Amino acid sequence: MTLLIYGAYGYTGELIAEEAVDRGIDTIVAGRNGVKTDHLAVRLDCEGRSFGVDTAEAYLDDVDVLLNCAGPFVDTYEPLVEACLETGTDYLDITGELSVFEAIAERDREAEKAGVCLLPGVGFDVVPTDCLAGHLHDRLPEANELRLGFDPSGTISRGTLASVIEHLDEGGKVRWDGDVVDVPPAHASRRIDFGRGSRNAVTIPWGDVSTAYYTTGIENIEVYTAVPPMAGTAMKVGRFATPVLGFPPVKRSLQTLVRATMTGPSERQRKEGACYVWGEATDGETTVTSRLKTPETYALTVDAATTAAERAMEEDLSGFETPAAAFTPEFVLDLDGVEGFFDE
Ligand SMILES: NC(=O)c1ccc[n+]([C@@H]2O[C@H](COP(=O)([O-])OP(=O)(O)OC[C@H]3O[C@@H](n4cnc5c(N)ncnc54)[C@H](OP(=O)(O)O)[C@@H]3O)[C@@H](O)[C@H]2O)c1
Repeated sequence: MTLLIYGAYGYTGELIAEEAVDRGIDTIVAGRNGVKTDHLAVRLDCEGRSFGVDTAEAYLDDVDVLLNCAGPFVDTYEPLVEACLETGTDYLDITGELSVFEAIAERDREAEKAGVCLLPGVGFDVVPTDCLAGHLHDRLPEANELRLGFDPSGTISRGTLASVIEHLDEGGKVRWDGDVVDVPPAHASRRIDFGRGSRNAVTIPWGDVSTAYYTTGIENIEVYTAVPPMAGTAMKVGRFATPVLGFPPVKRSLQTLVRATMTGPSERQRKEGACYVWGEATDGETTVTSRLKTPETYALTVDAATTAAERAMEEDLSGFETPAAAFTPEFVLDLDGVEGFFDE
């Protein structure tokens, strides 16, 4: 079985490629830049393939699983999903972009027909929160409201920040009566104990607003992140800047600046960081709460994405999947250093 990692010379893609080769997976590293792809292939002693996303179909005939690490994914998912459907290749990615999850979910029937699995979000976003959502649903199957959240420690990579900038002008999102609806940024705030004491938290348009619905069927979903009190206020004030951030030259300048000045968390930061994940589900009468503690978000992403790719190669999956629906909510507990579920 062969795994092709696209975007393999990016910060996260390279960490995943190293892990895949270390685990003995038959790995092909790929990306649009021939020099960077070849350099990585030589370093990891594996095959390299250089191609742009629009010509992917010609490079996938002997590939079982494609793992897309090239983000912002809004720019890459569509041609790669098309190529996977055409060639019978399973498609996985590490997106956290809500609009990308929603668009891929719409290809469910086509994927079923082609016998292909479409499984986006196999990184930190959304594996722990999605598995927590599935676990909470198992605890309270009648739940009609779900709230998820996380309190990360540590820094982020240039690609993640570039992806955040890509969607900054889209404002906030929650799921309400089954639909993804627009709300202002940080529209709700509350105190949450994510697992290390009560913190200030605000809503964000995180991928689970899409995926937790497909995993659980719960129709009302909000996702929170811990923020210092001033940051919540700044996000609310920042609503007035939203139209400016949507102006393409402003977006591109910010992304260029980020790419030129940032890398990603160091090995030490990845080893020492941690993240606290929280969720609650209610049916109006009963409320259940569960928590997880995970390694640093990029360390978790590398393990989760590589393990998901291995599982996709072993199992006969087809159609649109979420991590917890594909592999059960216990999938997250198989990852190194994850502690939980802590139930209340
Ligand atoms: N789910 C999660 O929890 C999670 C965790 C980590 C990262 N991510 C996401 O993964 C993505 C990558 O992050 P990163 O830190 O690795 O970023 P990065 O270091 O900037 O790498 C991005 C990679 O994507 C490639 N790429 C970007 N746009 C492309 C396009 N249109 N066509 C072909 N290749 C393209 C880049 O190639 P070039 O250099 O040739 O442009 C590069 O190889 C981001 O969207 C980030 O948000 C998600």
